[in-house]
Amino acid sequence: MSNRIALITGITGQDGGHLIELLHSKKYKIYGIIRGQQNPKKQLIEKEFPCVELIEADLIDQSSLIRALELSKPDEVYNLAAISHVGYSFKNPELTGQVTGLGVLNLLEAIRLSGRKDKIRFYQASTSEMFGGLNYNRPGEGYDENALFHPRSPYGVAKLYAHWITKNYRESYGIHASCGILFNHEGPRRGLEFVTRKISNAVARIHLGKQEYIELGNLDPKRDWGYAGDYVEGMWLMLQQDKPDDYVLATGETHSIKDFLELAFKEVGVNDWKPYVKQNKAFLRPAEVDLLLGNPAKAEKVLGWKRKVDFPSLVKMMVKHDINLESKKN
Ligand code: NAP
Ligand code: GDD
Repeated sequence: MSNRIALITGITGQDGGHLIELLHSKKYKIYGIIRGQQNPKKQLIEKEFPCVELIEADLIDQSSLIRALELSKPDEVYNLAAISHVGYSFKNPELTGQVTGLGVLNLLEAIRLSGRKDKIRFYQASTSEMFGGLNYNRPGEGYDENALFHPRSPYGVAKLYAHWITKNYRESYGIHASCGILFNHEGPRRGLEFVTRKISNAVARIHLGKQEYIELGNLDPKRDWGYAGDYVEGMWLMLQQDKPDDYVLATGETHSIKDFLELAFKEVGVNDWKPYVKQNKAFLRPAEVDLLLGNPAKAEKVLGWKRKVDFPSLVKMMVKHDINLESKKN
């Protein structure tokens, strides 16, 4: 039985929910940081996960992070907190830099100065957005840990700073800090602002007669989409290694938004999705990441990690979940 303690930032997000489930099944004591004076998600977490102890803190307030570390005395810190929406980051680039970039420095400094830096293992949520969509040194191949970075959004740039400052704290201060370079991972917990969940929810609502069509931006980009439940397993495995390192987690397959639409609408018996989709320029981005395809060979070999849920099963799971959810609402 484990008596390990984990502190999770970003606990109210998609990955936070999956990570709570995983660590709870492994008998961890779990602390999570919650931001804001009246965060509406606080009650949701308390209701769904009574095992979690919440601590008020914010990534841009270092004193609050010092306090969170003092209160929780964690063995493992999972930094999932970020402004994570790429489109939003173009509208709030400075805030994105402060939270998603410098916020990670705040947390690493708090760990360094905590007096427990050699006891804590740290996970940083790095991202395939750091690559930017063209495999610049090896075109046509999947991105691995040695691929060149070329971020295409304020979010991607902020994450690249966070990635390098994490590596820097590992090299400079010997902190057991690992970066998971995760490709897109989705599921029923995904926020409605992300394209997969926006589609699965709209398909459910159209099927139930609650909505007529869906408005989207660019349908051509391709993503390496996996299931979030599989990916938190990889995060945990990274922190169980003797040596900290960086790993790509991906499926090794890529699909367009059109592919996602096709499978999602087929799930409700619609063979031609086009009449239900309208383009809205508001969802276009100043710069797009056209193609993401990852190569998870290192994680498979070293961590023994492998995704379990394939793309059609993921789409099916999300649409089914949203039909169930929407049919319970008025
Ligand atoms: P998410 O659902 O958007 O959750 C983001 C979390 O960050 C939320 O809990 C949010 O809290 C918290 N947060 C935002 N600003 C904060 C601040 N100033 N201080 C403290 N917490 C703050 O993201 P996700 O999909 O779970 O992803 C988890 C992490 O992995 C993120 O860092 C994301 O960038 C990264 N990532 C995700 C993917 C993916 O495909 N999902 C892929 C690669 C990397 P509130 O609820 O209070 O807003
Ligand atoms: N969100 C959204 N909404 N995206 C749309 C829409 C729309 O209406 N229409 C088309 N898209 C396109 C976007 O332009 C992008 O090419 C693709 O759908 C995926 O968009 P998102 O689902 O917002 O995800 P993302 O790939 O930009 O970013 C996600 O994955 C990253 C890892 O690669 C986020 O989870 C990031 O936090 C994560 O780092």
